[in-house]
Amino acid sequence: MDLARRSFHHQTLLLFSLICLSHVSGTQFSFPRLGALRRTIRNRPEAESESISSVSKDFKTLFYSQTLDHFNYKPESFTRFPQRYVINSKYWGGPNTSSPILVYFGAEESLDYDLFGIGFLRDNAPRFKALQVYIEHRFYGKSVPFGSMEEALRNASIRGYFTSAQAIADYAAVILHIKKTLSAKDSPVIVIGGSYGGMLAAWFRLKYPHVALGALASSAPILYFDDLAPQVGYYAIVTKDFKETSESCYETIRKSWDEIDKVASEFNGLSILSKRFKTCKKLKRSFDLKDYLDSIYSEVAQYDYPPTYPLNIVCHGIDGAPKGTDTLGRIVAGVVAYMGNKSCYDMEEFNHPTDETYMGWRWQTCSEMVMPIGHEHSASMFPPSPFNLNKFIRKCKSLFGVQPRPHWVTTYYGGHDLKLILHRFGSNIIFSNGLRDPYSSGGVLENISESVVAVYTVNGSHCLDLLPEMKTDPPWLIKQRKTEVQIIKSWILKYYTDLIEFRDRT
Ligand SMILES: *[C@@H]1O[C@H](CO)[C@@H](O)[C@H](O)[C@H]1NC(C)=O
Ligand SMILES: *[C@@H]1O[C@H](CO)[C@@H](O)[C@H](O)[C@H]1NC(C)=O
Ligand SMILES: *[C@@H]1O[C@H](CO)[C@@H](O)[C@H](O)[C@H]1NC(C)=O
Ligand SMILES: *[C@@H]1O[C@H](CO)[C@@H](O)[C@H](O)[C@H]1NC(C)=O
Ligand SMILES: *[C@@H]1O[C@H](CO)[C@@H](O)[C@H](O)[C@H]1NC(C)=O
Repeated sequence: MDLARRSFHHQTLLLFSLICLSHVSGTQFSFPRLGALRRTIRNRPEAESESISSVSKDFKTLFYSQTLDHFNYKPESFTRFPQRYVINSKYWGGPNTSSPILVYFGAEESLDYDLFGIGFLRDNAPRFKALQVYIEHRFYGKSVPFGSMEEALRNASIRGYFTSAQAIADYAAVILHIKKTLSAKDSPVIVIGGSYGGMLAAWFRLKYPHVALGALASSAPILYFDDLAPQVGYYAIVTKDFKETSESCYETIRKSWDEIDKVASEFNGLSILSKRFKTCKKLKRSFDLKDYLDSIYSEVAQYDYPPTYPLNIVCHGIDGAPKGTDTLGRIVAGVVAYMGNKSCYDMEEFNHPTDETYMGWRWQTCSEMVMPIGHEHSASMFPPSPFNLNKFIRKCKSLFGVQPRPHWVTTYYGGHDLKLILHRFGSNIIFSNGLRDPYSSGGVLENISESVVAVYTVNGSHCLDLLPEMKTDPPWLIKQRKTEVQIIKSWILKYYTDLIEFRDRT
């Protein structure tokens, strides 16, 4: 086969497996999404049109010429691509006072959303006299090596450079570049991230202690890998959140799955379901509806933010339907209450095939970020669907032609015996969590040492501490943020005394 034909053959094969996958795989629910920000809000047009300049004209967008492959010396490794980062020096005390640098690690989405949605740096830069830096994760937003993300992901050798180790090496390179450009050698760097970005921040502190003085890892489920956390942890917390909010809402949802199956099995059942749920396209199988509902329930539990508390909104919809409404009618009312009164509901809303986060995270989970999240009936209001590693591996192999490495994260970053290892080895990491966040089941919830600490709130949800401060914030959230700021301040103070004592005088 000549090269051109082989590549054509390859592409048709890939296309074929993509098509097959979307129709055949089915019984495994999609993974709940990570992400510091809620997707259904993120996707609103007004949020998308929110450009960097409208956040503040003090944000400057820059591009760093990044190395494609940090880990070997083959000719193609030296290929460069532009990586986007944004800085804001309005409050910075400058290099002469060694004023700090707060760096936000972009995660599996475009940086645009973070500039708008993340408040921790903006709110705290004046308190620290800090420089704000936001760096985009490779392969997302405007930091895609070689063309569009679709193109980059389609090419097996290019997507091979799409790994977390490359991403944090990028961050190290960008931070050192900024420090050099601004002559800020002695400015301490605090790295901050949420969700997957929070994992990156924690791992960065362990791998690059000479670049970052400390890390704030918000809602970072670094223990949801391998055999570290119970696979049912995520959905057990979703269930608990619903049950605590409303027993009847929980009961209605628990009963609804069988109802859906029952209707689906009837003559014309899928048409009936499509009509009742106003699906944009006629359902081909009831699974798509169930997966959609599963995504809504997970999302509202994960991002159950004050002051609106979206989980309450869903349950008010379900519980508040007129007397005599049947189970499915109540579920519809819950969907409408949360998603709004729409002409139709897109069952692909949470897994849209052209969505950049969907595409990118699918590769990341199919390579190294294997998070074994399953449903188990006894512990949850969801139908049973345990995580099946073999099935997952088969699916990934058919999609990308390579075998996922479920043990790599714990091999490369650790995780087993975390307390035993980190109480001596690690320092200056805050693991923040909200216990109502389902991902907190894979979070670090115990203080490990003087400076590797867990700061959680009982009623908090995913990455809440990173969101912009608001007048409506409950006292426990204000307190959590204050604690974090105090801890970071103490690291910086200690650093300044160390600097005088140990400064490298060359
Ligand atoms: C910082 O220090 C340098 C060298 O000592 C000096 O030239 C410069 O004016 C200082 N900048 C500020 C803003 O104080
Ligand atoms: C993948 O990308 C590399 C680098 O741009 C290119 O040389 C190669 O031909 C691409 N492969 C395919 C199958 O498109
Ligand atoms: C939803 O919108 C439709 C028409 O667009 C309207 O007839 C219906 O009353 C609305 N329902 C609610 C609950 O607002
Ligand atoms: C860990 O230590 C910090 C700082 O002293 C404290 O604020 C926090 O409540 C502690 N966390 C736990 C889980 O005890
Ligand atoms: C959490 O919320 C529940 C229900 O609103 C309330 O009863 C409880 O006191 C709250 N706990 C904390 C620690 O704020």
